[in-house]
Amino acid sequence: MYRTHTCNELRETDSGKNVTLSGWVHSIRLHGGLAFLDLRDRYGITQLTVNTEDIPEVKTLRREFVIQVKGIVRKKPEANKKLETGTIEVFVEELTVLNTCEVIPLDLDNPLNNTDETRLKYRYLDLRRPQMQHNIKMKHLAMQATREFMNSQGFYEIETPLLIRSTPEGARDYIVPSRVNPGKAYSLPQSPQIYKQILMVSGFDRYYQIARCLRDEDLRADRQPEFTQIDVEMSFCHQEDVFTVGEGLMKNIFKKTINYELKTPFPRIAYDDSMLKYGCDKPDIRYELFLQDVTEVVKDSEFSVFKNVIEDSGIIKALSIDHEFARKDTDEFTELAKVYKAKGLVVLKVITDEASKQLRLEGSAAKYLSTEIQMNLIRELDAKEKSTILIVADQFKTCNDALANIRKEVAKKLKLYDESAFAFAWIYDFPSFEWNSEDQKWDAAHHIFTMPKEEHLQYLDGKDADPGKVRALCYDLVLNGVEVASGSIRINRRDIQERVMNVIGLTIEDAEKKFGFLLEAFKYGAPPHGGFAPGMDRLVALMCGTNDIREVIAFPKNKQGECPMDGCPSDIDEKVRRELHLKVEK
Ligand code: AMO
Repeated sequence: MYRTHTCNELRETDSGKNVTLSGWVHSIRLHGGLAFLDLRDRYGITQLTVNTEDIPEVKTLRREFVIQVKGIVRKKPEANKKLETGTIEVFVEELTVLNTCEVIPLDLDNPLNNTDETRLKYRYLDLRRPQMQHNIKMKHLAMQATREFMNSQGFYEIETPLLIRSTPEGARDYIVPSRVNPGKAYSLPQSPQIYKQILMVSGFDRYYQIARCLRDEDLRADRQPEFTQIDVEMSFCHQEDVFTVGEGLMKNIFKKTINYELKTPFPRIAYDDSMLKYGCDKPDIRYELFLQDVTEVVKDSEFSVFKNVIEDSGIIKALSIDHEFARKDTDEFTELAKVYKAKGLVVLKVITDEASKQLRLEGSAAKYLSTEIQMNLIRELDAKEKSTILIVADQFKTCNDALANIRKEVAKKLKLYDESAFAFAWIYDFPSFEWNSEDQKWDAAHHIFTMPKEEHLQYLDGKDADPGKVRALCYDLVLNGVEVASGSIRINRRDIQERVMNVIGLTIEDAEKKFGFLLEAFKYGAPPHGGFAPGMDRLVALMCGTNDIREVIAFPKNKQGECPMDGCPSDIDEKVRRELHLKVEK
């Protein structure tokens, strides 16, 4: 028997017992005739004491050797409060080295001392760190909580294929050449989207899958080429039914994974309101700091920056903060505005005018604003003495991007939120289409199977055609400013599907080529259906207190989509290349 107990099991009540433990040497310290070891396994750490005269080979041990010890549990005269086993130690009577270990190429105690590349190259060692062991456990618990909840709600877990035609999520597909079909290839799924919809046509009614998704896209901290979704689809449901399932699911995951009670229902925020108040569709609602549109308030100003933007159909938005910032801070906000492509940031301070004893604005732009406009701004923004007003005048997207990010930065600086809080919100009524100015055409904002709102179908085509006006039965779930899920009610009628495809310039022939099989399936009694898909990695990362999803994925890829551990992607062997009928152009 390798062990009678794990390294996190023994307590004071076990004193006097003969035990056997196995694990890694976490640390070793020689003192007088004794050696003090911390023995580690997945469960925790147990302290060992070894008499170096009785067991001299203890002196040959190094960190991360794998050993087995037999000995007696003793109460420690002074408890080590940092360890759950801290009240005891095992006095070792027999020690076996199960395996040695070369010098570890990583600093296991201070992960920041390692480069990302080294951590990924020696991922198996990096994963030994207690923090990583914890993160991976959280993912496991979240998966179990998912299954538990979905099963309890009558959902079937159904697998869908990995070798498929193509899915419409908007990233590039990974392609797998077929050996037996020369010149042909499979796509790896960007999500099980089409298959889950087809399962609804088959009458499965409630489907879920903890699904791997593969997308060849540019990577960021919250994006990996391979990631996991909790993929969900339901028949005969409205948007609210999906929200209820989503809330129950999140509640169970947070309870079972980190013992956190989420309050449901989550707030629901229409997309337009979110853009207005937060300047983005992923609002962090842990703090109440809202953007305000002041275009109307300043529209008669002679200030050329405002005038030009208004003439150019742009907007002017402001953030009023009850805080007097140092010049260094406001300079930082100005730089941030520029990062998001704004031409600048108007910084104004509210002060009391010496002469009139009235509030007025101070700042380099103040002289261009009449007393009346200054008063109106102060009133509209409910600004107080010493408040700071930050204004961006620009096109809709730039103005919102800049101020939304400044809002985040302000909140961080002023510590406006509780870092341990989890604030979910559903964002709904997204636009169906977004204008692609490069190609001068409309694109689907989510994917092309998203159902427009009934009352907006008229804007798809005909005399009222105005695709920019169409809002969809499409929603995102946002957590602390991060999009953790998205979904929609789907188009289940071919006539509407064709009209939507028409708007984005997808011909029936193109559509037939890409997903003709789905359109075909929809001819045979497709029920009303909808669903959503939370990104498991993002959820678990946030529960672990990080935004970097690589911290919760056992074997992630680096920023170039490579795995430094196994060295993929690798050259294709000549024989394999021939079998796959591939020619490689260098
Ligand atoms: P979407 O493409 O919005 O929707 O993805 C859903 C959720 O998956 C997560 N996610 C990612 N996580 C890590 N790395 C990535 N590269 C990545 N891309 C997406 C996000 C996102 O909210 N089929 C639809 C869902 C549906 O309509 O039911 C879909 O895949 O958390």
